[in-house]
Amino acid sequence: MAFLYQAILLVADYPILTGIFTIFCGLFIPVAYFLTSGFAPSPFKKATSKRKGPARLTDRTSKDKILKQGFATKKIPQNLDAIVIGSGIGGLSSAAILSKAGKRVLVLEQHDQAGGSCHTFHEKGYEFDTGIHYIGGMQDGSDMRLLLDYLTDNNLEWHKLSDTFDYVHVDSSKTQSTKIPIVGGGFEGYKETLLQHFPQEEKAICGFVDLLEEARAYSWPCGILKMLPTWVSWLLIKSGLINRYILLTQKNTLDVIQGLTDNKTLQTVFAYVFADYGTPPKYSSFFTHATVLNHFVKNGSYYPVGGTSEIAHCLIPTIEESGGGVLVRAPVSKILLDLEGKVIGVCVTKNKEEVNIFAPTVISDAGLWNTFESLLPREVMLKSKYYKPLRDLAQKPGATAMLLFVGLKGTTEELNLSPANHFIYSSDDVDRSFTDYLAMTAQEACTAETPIVFASFPSAKDPTWQQRYPGQSVCTVITLVNWEWFSRWEDQRIMHRGEDYEGLKKKFADQAWEQCLRKFPQLADKVEYFDVGTPLSNKFYLGTPRGEIYGLEHDFSRFSPEMTSHVRAQTDIPGLILTGQDVFSCGFAGALFAGILASSAALNRLVFIDLILKKQLFGQKRDKKEIELEE
Ligand SMILES: Cc1cc2nc3c(=O)[nH]c(=O)nc-3n(C[C@H](O)[C@H](O)[C@H](O)COP(=O)(O)OP(=O)(O)OC[C@H]3O[C@@H](n4cnc5c(N)ncnc54)[C@H](O)[C@@H]3O)c2cc1C
Ligand SMILES: *[C@@H]1O[C@H](CO)[C@@H](O)[C@H](O)[C@H]1NC(C)=O
Ligand SMILES: *[C@@H]1O[C@H](CO)[C@@H](O)[C@H](O)[C@H]1NC(C)=O
Repeated sequence: MAFLYQAILLVADYPILTGIFTIFCGLFIPVAYFLTSGFAPSPFKKATSKRKGPARLTDRTSKDKILKQGFATKKIPQNLDAIVIGSGIGGLSSAAILSKAGKRVLVLEQHDQAGGSCHTFHEKGYEFDTGIHYIGGMQDGSDMRLLLDYLTDNNLEWHKLSDTFDYVHVDSSKTQSTKIPIVGGGFEGYKETLLQHFPQEEKAICGFVDLLEEARAYSWPCGILKMLPTWVSWLLIKSGLINRYILLTQKNTLDVIQGLTDNKTLQTVFAYVFADYGTPPKYSSFFTHATVLNHFVKNGSYYPVGGTSEIAHCLIPTIEESGGGVLVRAPVSKILLDLEGKVIGVCVTKNKEEVNIFAPTVISDAGLWNTFESLLPREVMLKSKYYKPLRDLAQKPGATAMLLFVGLKGTTEELNLSPANHFIYSSDDVDRSFTDYLAMTAQEACTAETPIVFASFPSAKDPTWQQRYPGQSVCTVITLVNWEWFSRWEDQRIMHRGEDYEGLKKKFADQAWEQCLRKFPQLADKVEYFDVGTPLSNKFYLGTPRGEIYGLEHDFSRFSPEMTSHVRAQTDIPGLILTGQDVFSCGFAGALFAGILASSAALNRLVFIDLILKKQLFGQKRDKKEIELEE
């Protein structure tokens, strides 16, 4: 063994040698693919079943029958192949892929409806989204779209939003404010619009776009590193073959941006999208930043027809079709292990009653911290070689937020609302203003200018909205805040946290709404419903330890090539697999990709290759024909 290790180290010192070695190892993927494909059937062998037709106007009662199936012992299917903890897109996609491969999977969700961040709620006749405002990469023919079409039997439809997917508002001073559209559908359009607004900044803009393109061209290792065996990934990192990618992960976002231009407004426009992953530019890797922006710039943004709850609504029937199910109000309190340390199932605790459910595989969508620090026995967590290098990262609180849910009288047209999101920055030095803000006390912060106010109008995005909610609109406002400001009420029951909490919450909310109204004064007298969620609400509904909205912190260390390779779906605890945003990155697409990784680990085959093969062999054509025939 020692000799082998020495030999590998020796080879690793010579990039060319390792290059050859890595190419040799590249053969590993096809070989591994063909060797393993016999064990479990490809999830993409089954034909999709009949599309139910354009049913996006499903009434709420029948939709709730699918989304809100309450946990009861008699509803637990027998002979389960796998249990999934959590029904976010990471959990549902893993379960649906396994179901397509003929496995029987039970998804357990602690909240009272399925979907995680994709869930919507209804209050006083209004419908609100909670955690999806736009998704990139959903154009016809993309891998992601193909996967979702397949997993939902073509029942989930996507609506392309306007080419301008975001607006950035920068208040450089009390009197000067600029509004810049961010345009998707290719780098050219993105560049052109910025040039129109910053004609003197051609060099900076072209430089930035070049870097975005580079990040796109060299992004492939970030997925591959999680799919190859760890030692092959290690060789790949050392080989010199992916140095362009490694360099991008080592660049700091703030340094890159400040190095390109002195114009503070333009710096803010380059930086704005950090709010989509929550880590200030000073602490993030440029690769992460560019990947998030590229996600939307490439082909614009999309929204599920019928609202974001359609995602779970269309995935659950697939899981049920192979004998599995999705049960809500089912908080998992423990992962059960046998004497040898192998996973054998989970325990659901309800009203002090414990129900043990058994399956040879458990896939957790509950996040890294929850899974290791709260669901596994402590001694198992401490012994895990997988978790050890991640413990520091898991202890850091990730970004958290306050959410305002505002119900408005009037249609999209009457209120002049855009499908594009608005990022409103109260200064042109976002990194400083945001870091300073988070360092304030709660009393200071609640009446201070909020550095970032995100405002979005889901009612302007869904083509079925006006039919479903005539004469109404909704606005969601998000501000990034500090968990510590609210943590003292952590142990109090929801709705019973007392006057101090309600008072603080109101001050924060009034401040954010006032800043929002400066950009949308027409909404001032149209408010019919107004509610506020704090990090404690996020904790309650999403089950995150400190109200995180994007899971783990997206800082520099998390996206180093070594860490990228280390954080994978397969853990060192036999039978325990991870899925969801902590495995890859936050965002719908990130969590969905984690679903591919998790199902690969569970099926012991490369599901991503299955997907690519399906695309190459059958492509969209066959699916299109199927759809046409059925319509
Ligand atoms: C406010 C907000 C805005 C966002 N905007 C966008 C956007 O515009 N575009 C985009 O792409 N992404 C956006 N995101 C990010 C995206 O929604 C998430 O990254 C993604 O949906 C996470 O999916 P997941 O499966 O990892 O986790 P989640 O959706 O969080 O699902 C985890 C589930 O596990 C459940 N759970 C936890 N513990 C237990 C337990 N012990 N037992 C049972 N169940 C448990 C939780 O209740 C939850 O339902 C946003 C997120 C938020 C919060
Ligand atoms: C998506 O973007 C790529 C590159 O920008 C382009 O070649 C392709 O045609 C786009 N596809 C769609 C459907 O817009
Ligand atoms: C930044 O660019 C904008 C648009 O060209 C311009 O109006 C502004 O004055 C510039 N700011 C500085 C500090 O140069």
